[in-house]
Amino acid sequence: MAKLSDDAEHCGQMAYDTIILGAGAAGLMAAIHASARGGKVLVLDHARAPGEKIRISGGGRCNFTNMHAGPGNFISQNKHFAKSCLARYTQWDFIDLMAKHKIAYHEKTLGQLFCDGSAKQVVAMLLEEAKGADIRLETSIENVSHDGARFSLRTSAGRFSARNLVIATGGKSIPKMGATGFAYQIAEQFGHALIAPRPGLVPLTFAEQELAWIKPLAGTALPVSARVGATSFDEAMLFTHRGLSGPVILQISSYWVEGDAISLDLMPKRDLAAMLRDKRAENGRRSIGKALGELLPGRLAAHFTESLALSGNIADWSDKRLTELAESLQNWTLTPTSSEGYRTAEVTIGGIDTNGLNSSDMQSKTVPGLYFIGEAVDVTGWLGGFNFQWAWSSGWAAGTAIAANS
Ligand code: FDA
Repeated sequence: MAKLSDDAEHCGQMAYDTIILGAGAAGLMAAIHASARGGKVLVLDHARAPGEKIRISGGGRCNFTNMHAGPGNFISQNKHFAKSCLARYTQWDFIDLMAKHKIAYHEKTLGQLFCDGSAKQVVAMLLEEAKGADIRLETSIENVSHDGARFSLRTSAGRFSARNLVIATGGKSIPKMGATGFAYQIAEQFGHALIAPRPGLVPLTFAEQELAWIKPLAGTALPVSARVGATSFDEAMLFTHRGLSGPVILQISSYWVEGDAISLDLMPKRDLAAMLRDKRAENGRRSIGKALGELLPGRLAAHFTESLALSGNIADWSDKRLTELAESLQNWTLTPTSSEGYRTAEVTIGGIDTNGLNSSDMQSKTVPGLYFIGEAVDVTGWLGGFNFQWAWSSGWAAGTAIAANS
């Protein structure tokens, strides 16, 4: 196919080889690779700046990948779908890119890699790499159509056309930052099915009755194991004025659906009953509350002691009562009423059904030249750098496939 020049017109439209909608993590990665061999690429975004979520991520330091990233860290209706992209553009490829740009980073915990300096370095690196692409910001997309060969777009910045259209407009999380359900609209327009989107990596909220219990503990954090069904995570939990948060709650929230109970073990991997029996053997004259306070954060132990009306010296507590108390703290079951929703959710679970996409290049199986990448697709990572890795891997897959076909 003949190459179109930058200023070429196609039926009164500015013509490109590829138009990418969304200048976020996935869109910029796709732009880098789609333009690498001279392909004419246009990136459109309605935001004022590119890569805004990258800039604010990881507390401004961007947890840009995870050393242990693999298909098991992702949620999707098809657990095999992400394998191809993740295997062909890995965390080590992105780490090499960081090294090429001399961006210093460190492992914080559990394989999570953060910039030593600022997340802005990652955005600057992507823009430098994507300088072959034309990026237009503050542009609203008014209409998208396809004549069987080319896509035509009517936008606030004029009309554009291209052979390839890459949808990288993300999910619905944090509407204040410009997140929209645009990718889902386009998917539906072109006959792609959706897996119902819902907020993920989000704090959980509770009814007044539980909240009355949780609120006074706001600010208290402790390591716990949180479980929904057969899935569990061991990380820190934080009590807040609205409910429960902290990494462990964000992780489990992605598996939680309305009506599910969550089970919390406040002494993960420890035998609390045995520990209490040891306390009794050491010194039976201390109160049960004091003994608990030596094992749990003081505020939490005091709160349990008062609300469960735990009284007496530990010597007065039989093995059976100690076991019952330990069980209640190691299998504390709560039913959230809801979550904080898209307002604070780090990601959107669900999205474009992977059944309609080729796993090797993210292209639509039914509309040639149409690609969906990043968070818009029904592939969602755990907390810890996995979502950016999916954005890099899926963006790379689409971008390199486009470059190879042009
Ligand atoms: P992304 O949302 O990045 O980009 C979509 C782009 O499309 C945006 O630029 C947006 O303006 C544009 N757009 C949307 N609708 C449009 C429309 N209608 N018209 C035109 N443009 C439109 N992940 C991780 O791995 N490590 C981390 O440290 C964090 N931290 C983090 C913190 C916070 C507060 C949030 C909200 C999220 C994270 N994440 C994260 C998740 C991560 O940010 C997210 O998964 C990726 O940014 C997804 O990349 P995408 O490119 O798919 O979408």
